Amino acid sequence: MKPKNNFSVVPKLFKMNFKMGERMLHGFWNLGKALIKKRHFEGYDHMKNFSLIYFKLTPLCNLRCKMCGQRGDKGYLKGEYAANEAKTIVPLETYKKLVDELKYKRPVYYLWGGEPFLYPDLCDLVDYIQKSGSFCSVNTNGTLLEKYAERIVRDQWNVVFVSLDAFRDVNDEIRGPGSYDRVVKGFEAINREKEKQHSRLPAMGIVTTVTNKNYKDLQNLAVACKDFNIDWHIYNLGTYTNDEVVAKHKEFFREKLGVESVCLEAYNTGYNDGIDGAELHKTLNTIHSTDYGYLSITVPALNPEKTHEYYHRLDIPVRDHCIVPWTQANINYNGDVTFCADYVEYPLGNIKEQSFKDIYNGERANKFRHAMVECPGEIFPGCIRCYQNMLFGKKIKGY
Ligand SMILES: C[S@@+](CC[C@H](N)C(=O)[O-])C[C@H]1O[C@@H](n2cnc3c(N)ncnc32)[C@H](O)[C@@H]1O
Ligand code: SF4
Repeated sequence: MKPKNNFSVVPKLFKMNFKMGERMLHGFWNLGKALIKKRHFEGYDHMKNFSLIYFKLTPLCNLRCKMCGQRGDKGYLKGEYAANEAKTIVPLETYKKLVDELKYKRPVYYLWGGEPFLYPDLCDLVDYIQKSGSFCSVNTNGTLLEKYAERIVRDQWNVVFVSLDAFRDVNDEIRGPGSYDRVVKGFEAINREKEKQHSRLPAMGIVTTVTNKNYKDLQNLAVACKDFNIDWHIYNLGTYTNDEVVAKHKEFFREKLGVESVCLEAYNTGYNDGIDGAELHKTLNTIHSTDYGYLSITVPALNPEKTHEYYHRLDIPVRDHCIVPWTQANINYNGDVTFCADYVEYPLGNIKEQSFKDIYNGERANKFRHAMVECPGEIFPGCIRCYQNMLFGKKIKGY
């Protein structure tokens, strides 16, 4: 059976949460526009198609999930290094200035980290963003949700995505002992507050990063999630790479951008080795065709016969022509602006020193865009299984 296109959930999304549906459609519209204008570089106002901004608020996290490119087994943001980096975080007032600057665009905000609840002013920041008229989503590991539930509901946060990777034991093997039960307590607290405060917000989602550690347990999780009163569940096939791709990518970045690529290696963990694509597809198909009372999608939605290839032929792209540098940006915890969160070695500028618009239309930004379109399929070698490319790249025929 062919997988449903992820667009198929848009009507349901509108019914469930009009603002979320409207912002999503607006985002797709801008992506389409940007694809047409992608060949524009110097002198073009790239803010015209700008629609999504990520704040990676902190390098710190209270978990050590195995596959995580930041804090996991091969993560690049750990220990003393992360503690020192945490001293450079952007203060709330600087973020507020940026939100003011971007107000006319009403971009969608996606706040993450590290663990966003470890950013000291998270609640004030979300409040400020939403009051500016923008849609805000927060991606958290959920272990601190219980503590903040009253305020989250009181401030009517738009959407919270909580990461859970499997049912209790398998999840805790990946995300650490006790993490599953802490997340469950978080959901319970949010639901209690929603009832008490007579609120439907925030919309609640779960994000599951699929690896060889959890792919056999996804159905158990899907069933357990029925009790959490969630709105949707996203299965993310995960950013991963191998030695060959890392070497090719490093060489390309050295030659074209004059920098040493550092983050990609953190996704070379082996956690996607040996996945049986046919079995995974069958599981996802069963999940997507069962009514658990919430929406579910997989990113990327692949044709069944291609799922195995996705995991076993890292030389074959499934999405290309990435549109991220023409529509989006990530603000690193220290204020550096990058297009992609995983290419921190090539900052475009810093919001503590310059306006966002100048950075986004600047020379370094255009150099990056030029380098990307020079690559086969208009993606860098390292982007071949990047989650953002899976979301915002062009589907290759057959996949
Ligand atoms: C890096 S975390 C930051 C936010 C928060 N700490 C959390 O865990 O939700 C953002 C998302 O990336 C996911 N993630 C972790 N490792 C990944 C990988 N190798 N590929 C793709 N996503 C990954 C996490 O599971 C989480 O849903
Ligand atoms: S909770 Fe999030 S940031 Fe922390 S280790 Fe896990 S995936 Fe990484």
